[in-house]
Amino acid sequence: MKRIVIFASGSGSNAENIINYFSNRNTAEVRMVLSNRSRAGVFERCKRLNIPCQHFKKSDFFESNTVLELLQKEADFIVLAGFLLKIPENIIKAYPNEIVNIHPALLPKYGGKGMYGMNVHRAIKENNEPETGITIHYVNEHYDEGGIIFQAKTAVEESDTPESIAQKVHELEYAHFPRVIEETIAKHA
Ligand code: GAR
Repeated sequence: MKRIVIFASGSGSNAENIINYFSNRNTAEVRMVLSNRSRAGVFERCKRLNIPCQHFKKSDFFESNTVLELLQKEADFIVLAGFLLKIPENIIKAYPNEIVNIHPALLPKYGGKGMYGMNVHRAIKENNEPETGITIHYVNEHYDEGGIIFQAKTAVEESDTPESIAQKVHELEYAHFPRVIEETIAKHA
């Protein structure tokens, strides 16, 4: 049984979906959720789901081994689900091919610094893109540049708003992310 730790900065709907998926699988389990934002919605969800959720300070992440040491106790595999900080080198080095992120667009388009959440969906709408989607990729030291594991597309209609685009993208995330995590863990077992 592999042990997953999830990093989340926001509402945590993907974290909840992943926790639920692995709650009845014998391949992996979600051990805990870590967040850089002490008031993130993900705390409420974890409380309801009975999964430990822990806040960490930016300085513990970037200037010490505190978070790395916690991970080494708890995690075989790391999942970023709406996590907005860059992963520091000490963690990247300790988890080669064992950290995955989900991005709410078809990378390499609409990636990079500042491109997260609704910012991405607004840009898709402004540029009249005919399609968007999700990208699940390995995490390296550059934002949104690790090897792509999986993509799925959805059409963008003229009548779509940034909010309806977000909803379509979330549906793809919920449908695919847990299964792709499970397959990726199996590949590196
Ligand atoms: C998700 O759509 C995820 O793809 C995106 O943030 C949202 C988090 O929603 N991630 C990024 O933009 C990372 N660059 P959630 O908190 O409800 O899971």
